[in-house]
Amino acid sequence: MPNPLEGRTVALGVSGSIACYRAPYLASKLVQHGARVDVVMTEAAAKFVTPLAFGSITHRPVVTDIFDPQTEMGIDHVAIAERSDVVVVAPATAHAMARIAHGLADDALTTTVLATRAPVVVCPAMDGHMYDNPATQENAATLRSRGITVAGPATGRLASGMYGPGRMLEPAEIIDHVRAVLGRDGDLAGRKVVATAGGTRELIDPVRFISNRSSGKMGHAAAEAARDRGASAVLVTASTTLPDPVGVSVVRVESAIDMRDAVMRECEDAEVLVMAAAVADWRPAEPSERKLKKGSAKTSSLELARTPDVVAGVRTKGLIKVGFAAETDDVERNARAKIQQKGLHFIAANDVTAAGSGFGADSNRVVLIDREGRAERLDMLSKYEVAHRILDKVLSYWDC
Ligand code: CTP
Repeated sequence: MPNPLEGRTVALGVSGSIACYRAPYLASKLVQHGARVDVVMTEAAAKFVTPLAFGSITHRPVVTDIFDPQTEMGIDHVAIAERSDVVVVAPATAHAMARIAHGLADDALTTTVLATRAPVVVCPAMDGHMYDNPATQENAATLRSRGITVAGPATGRLASGMYGPGRMLEPAEIIDHVRAVLGRDGDLAGRKVVATAGGTRELIDPVRFISNRSSGKMGHAAAEAARDRGASAVLVTASTTLPDPVGVSVVRVESAIDMRDAVMRECEDAEVLVMAAAVADWRPAEPSERKLKKGSAKTSSLELARTPDVVAGVRTKGLIKVGFAAETDDVERNARAKIQQKGLHFIAANDVTAAGSGFGADSNRVVLIDREGRAERLDMLSKYEVAHRILDKVLSYWDC
């Protein structure tokens, strides 16, 4: 089930903030992810963006007035609340948050939130001082204590020109929160999945290092896919360019030794390890504490020492270990040898020279090979979909 939004019904509650200008884009992204989107607007929101803008994107009626007998809401004031799989309030003003926290039901938006049994995600957007005000902080705490996800706000430039907390999250981040919430009761609920990502950096001196071309995308996708199936997902990442995924506990590391320590610790109570990191096999034997000077030397050499094999060293009882083998030749033979050497349950092997499947790509074509020698050759898929196929295979170990 690679896309938790496919075929789901989302009630998008829009309250009156200048961040409303980004709400039609959010609605559009939700629709592109396969969701049915019912927009419920406050009167103030309709002053910033017209219902027509939302209706043109969602191809569904937009509710603004609870008393309008022409709308579905007018006929049955809780219809949207009942049919939604999730209610997202974005943007949520300080006033909207206060009304929700106090259980008011004085318009279509608050009625929907009060009447729904679906999970609710509230995305604050307001002036920084309003957000910092103890009243708003208490309202946010009240919402959280009732199981509502308060997503954001981000810190940045506000409409007032000031800098501070109060910016509504980017639509992509809001969608990640929605996916996580929708996947909460998924087939990995109650399980801890540790994924690793990125290429480790082995310092030569304070300004130079040895590393590799791993982007970290595969490991990040593994953590996100696990999150979207309800797992408690931990990402141990050496990637420096990708942002932390929403709803995942992130441990940032640099070297192979740091990664070994973090993975050992996180795996103590984990059920699955997806080892997508490209761990350096060698590190400078004696890194210099000061920047090395080239002087007048014409050549130079560096003595290297072996790094620990992280995945081979993890021996938690019952842990399903999945490895990766990024190869340039003899892909399947090389990968099979690693299953035994590292005590893996199965390995995802890929040819990094194949088009669309190399470093930094968003897609990957892998072969899943297990201990018994069975090989499952997958098509070219997005890394997120590859991650789901890996997790599907993990689940098969528990079924038997
Ligand atoms: N791996 C690890 N620790 C290392 C090296 C690799 O845990 N020091 C893991 C990788 O994360 C991957 C698997 O082992 O899941 C295979 O990694 P790969 O680099 O393909 O294999 P190596 O053992 O390094 O073998 P070689 O470089 O000789 O191909």
